[in-house]
Amino acid sequence: MKDYPINYNFNDQVALITGAGSGIGEAVSRAFAKTGAKLVLVDINEESTNELKNKLISTLQEEDILTIRTDVSDPEDVLKMTETVIGYFAKIDILFNNAGINKRTPLKDISFEDWRRIMSVNLDGMFLVAQAVGKEMIKRKKGKIINTASMSGFIVNENLNDGVYCTSKAAVVMLTKALAVEWAQYNIDVNAIAPGYTKTPLVKNLIKDSKIYEELKERIPVHRLAEPDEIASAVLYLSSSSTSYITGHTLKIDGGYTIW
Ligand SMILES: NC(=O)c1ccc[n+]([C@@H]2O[C@H](COP(=O)([O-])OP(=O)(O)OC[C@H]3O[C@@H](n4cnc5c(N)ncnc54)[C@H](O)[C@@H]3O)[C@@H](O)[C@H]2O)c1
Repeated sequence: MKDYPINYNFNDQVALITGAGSGIGEAVSRAFAKTGAKLVLVDINEESTNELKNKLISTLQEEDILTIRTDVSDPEDVLKMTETVIGYFAKIDILFNNAGINKRTPLKDISFEDWRRIMSVNLDGMFLVAQAVGKEMIKRKKGKIINTASMSGFIVNENLNDGVYCTSKAAVVMLTKALAVEWAQYNIDVNAIAPGYTKTPLVKNLIKDSKIYEELKERIPVHRLAEPDEIASAVLYLSSSSTSYITGHTLKIDGGYTIW
């Protein structure tokens, strides 16, 4: 993974990452591990976070990493998860609210069940975790929340039948603004990132199809997909004290895709 030109120091800060077991969440967890932060790795796939924890033990002490299996779309799971973290670390300084899913289907054909599943993880889940963790941050009047939206919250992905996904991500952009306004009084900054196409398992089918892959690269001004580490560096920036006057903002990290 990349070394960042800015040496962030998150010593003794507790960073909670959802969707930590794969892709962008994993890259962000690895990046935080290098800064001395204590980590809470949350994912519905427990095996993936346990594996990641084992890999990170060379960088952090075992007791500084907590893994919790949680379905972010389940309100009870989210409350239990938050209680467990507070019981263990007593606080949460940073939330990277990131878990998300997609299933490409035209809007005319998608079942209500699939619509609900995507909205329940990408939007309800984002709200439930922000609310549960936010209440703990409010008690301490301190916190940084970074939600994972997408450039798909601003544009409709060309020819990909991503209608539900795009709708859910546009809602995350607005949820970020609404939370930022409500929680400014508690000294909590709420921002979002809007990645473009990033090399993770979520887009593996697009990358596998060489015709789609070449077309995608052609369409991106920088002519390549993002590496997960390139998303992680922006998350660390938004988690740091360098951004103490930034709230309600969604930072596009898309190689220029949404410019044209
Ligand atoms: N990869 C991209 O091109 C891209 C672009 C823009 C935005 N995003 C967003 O970035 C975030 C991370 O995506 P990624 O590309 O790393 O995907 P990924 O599939 O590699 O990782 C997603 C992780 O979320 C977990 N997860 C799924 N449902 C969950 C649930 N209900 N509860 C808890 N965890 C759950 C998965 O187990 C997985 O570990 C998502 O919100 C995605 O929409 C990705």
